[in-house]
Amino acid sequence: MIGRLNHVAIAVPDLAAATAKYRDLLGARVTAPQPLPEHGVTVVFVELENSKLELMTPLGENSPIAGFLEKNPNGGVHHLCFEVNDLLSAAETLTAAGARVLGDGRPRIGAHGRPVLFLHPKDFDGTLIELEEVKPELLSA
Ligand code: CO
Repeated sequence: MIGRLNHVAIAVPDLAAATAKYRDLLGARVTAPQPLPEHGVTVVFVELENSKLELMTPLGENSPIAGFLEKNPNGGVHHLCFEVNDLLSAAETLTAAGARVLGDGRPRIGAHGRPVLFLHPKDFDGTLIELEEVKPELLSA
């Protein structure tokens, strides 16, 4: 069902400081900050050879990661995102197996403009899992 690791998302209290660490200390390529008001976060992508990191910090009121940062004031790994080529069929298989899809259970458009859904961390060893639909022709070998 799952293909490559699309990204690891890390919630950070200070996006500029986190970006500088990856860029200046670790020597990684980073993007400019992208405010995503509809998702309540500002993100910077750290582009690695085989995947990417998504550094996220809260944007606006009611950010979905505000609670996470309250519990983890220094930041922390927030979720892993795996690519799938058929999100609806993945959701059906998972739901039939008893895994909980967050929200109303339906895919929504995620931070990269592609359909995503999130799986309950209690069903996946304490890890929030995001599945992102990537058309087969876009899947990397
Ligand atoms: Co994500």
